[in-house]
Amino acid sequence: MEKILKTENISKSFPGVLAVDNVSFGLQSGEILALIGENGAGKSTLTNILGGVLNPDQGRIILEDKEVSFQSSHDAIREGISMVFQELSLVGNLSVAENIFANRHPVGPVNNIRWRKLYRETEDLLLKFNLDLDPMMLVKRLSMGQQQILEILKAISTNPKVLILDEPTSSLTEAEIDYLFQNIRKLQDQGMSFIYITHKLSEVFQIANRVMVMRDGKYVGTEKMSTITEADLVSMMVGREIINVYGAASGNTMASEYFRVENFCREGAFHNITFGLRRGEILGFAGLVGAGRTELAQSIFGAEPKDSGQVNIDGKPVKISGPRDAIKNRIAYLTEDRIGLGLFLSMQIRDNLIAPFLKQLSSTIGFMKKKLIDRHVREKIKEFAIATPSIYQKILNLSGGNQQKALVAMWMGIRPEVIIFDEPTRGVDVGARVEIYQKLREFALAGTGIIMISSDLPELIGMCDRILVMHQGEIKGEVLPDDYSEELILSFATGLNSQPLG
Ligand SMILES: Nc1ncnc2c1ncn2[C@@H]1O[C@H](COP(=O)(O)OP(=O)(O)OP(=O)(O)O)[C@@H](O)[C@H]1O
Ligand SMILES: [Mg+2]
Repeated sequence: MEKILKTENISKSFPGVLAVDNVSFGLQSGEILALIGENGAGKSTLTNILGGVLNPDQGRIILEDKEVSFQSSHDAIREGISMVFQELSLVGNLSVAENIFANRHPVGPVNNIRWRKLYRETEDLLLKFNLDLDPMMLVKRLSMGQQQILEILKAISTNPKVLILDEPTSSLTEAEIDYLFQNIRKLQDQGMSFIYITHKLSEVFQIANRVMVMRDGKYVGTEKMSTITEADLVSMMVGREIINVYGAASGNTMASEYFRVENFCREGAFHNITFGLRRGEILGFAGLVGAGRTELAQSIFGAEPKDSGQVNIDGKPVKISGPRDAIKNRIAYLTEDRIGLGLFLSMQIRDNLIAPFLKQLSSTIGFMKKKLIDRHVREKIKEFAIATPSIYQKILNLSGGNQQKALVAMWMGIRPEVIIFDEPTRGVDVGARVEIYQKLREFALAGTGIIMISSDLPELIGMCDRILVMHQGEIKGEVLPDDYSEELILSFATGLNSQPLG
């Protein structure tokens, strides 16, 4: 098979990190090449170079036997390489159509935007991909999943020869993933070639023809899917074997209930939610995207309103009218949207790690503050194994998994009694996942109750002492470890089955 795209000795460094180290690889024409590796392995940096977003320090890019060099992503798109970025890049206040055709609106004789043509072309595109969206709708009103699909559509609309997808499914539902895969296969049949970055090995086996592994900026190898096992891939990625991803349960779930949510309601979001949490318990919340789990979690934390409902701690009602109250009561909420809500991206890792208890630090510690903070931050970086060249690195420049670890480290600083963790390992590699799971186990063992919202069923089954399943804003069932199965959980999640809580 001929190569459509290859690199020769590409390197790229950032202050303190050699992100891509002398990588040579080839993409065959019409293939889907999965690109995997731990957080910080250099996957996004390499593909950002191919997509014209970053300039390499050295090396050559060869597209269809011709050397190319890009000054911008427009150059790359013009040559036929389009990219879907790891983080959403749509503009919320613009419409679906304007986002798809950003910077290349059809224009008339005096450079006026031809709106009718813009909407019509968008409609054609949406129709071609069977998408029921209004071209004039503002993007901020779409769900994260819809935005992601739109992002992909935008890249496809440039008719690329090579399409690079950087973790495209991290906020998609099962149905959306199926939809995406069908369309990728369809485009592959029409001759498009793909580089597909993901942390989900099951996806690699589902969609890819070959898989390429990077570690610490270096090229490790490329294998055909037909001749490699999942275990082999994991050891290629981490350079060691990983045996038990989820660790062992603490077994101290007999402890008494200390945290209780009573009758939480919000019109259109969730209804009559009542449940208790025991010390040391890891309580899972399963459900399809849109079941109301995040809305519920954010209202418990006081970040979103509720129509009615009460939180009790140790049998006493507590008033939570905002996140500040929640933090005072030692309730931590780790958001699924770490980019939009969780972290202060443009700030240093140091400032992020102390953000939730800044007030405490500044009022009591006085002139010792700086040194103490630095020490605290260094300890946390070590404790949570955050890979960063310094405590002053901007969060923005950390890899996705390291951002997630920073989010965990930041919230653990308030010494929470209750941790609500929304999608704890989205976009996080195997190695970092094991570390996050281990940390959660440690907190549970020390008596902290953990509410874990996840769309990853194996993760819920592997980690939780009990799983509540939501469907359309209500708790439809409670599943205990003896009965754990994806089928049973899904039967509640899809509303096929329902069993009132006893
Ligand atoms: N703009 C930047 N400035 C400084 N360092 C950076 C920048 N971009 C990436 N890095 C660093 O380069 C290394 C490679 O990062 P990269 O984002 O390419 O990893 P990745 O394989 O995509 O990881 P993930 O799976 O977490 O997305 C990391 O150590 C990261 O912190
Ligand atoms: Mg990345």
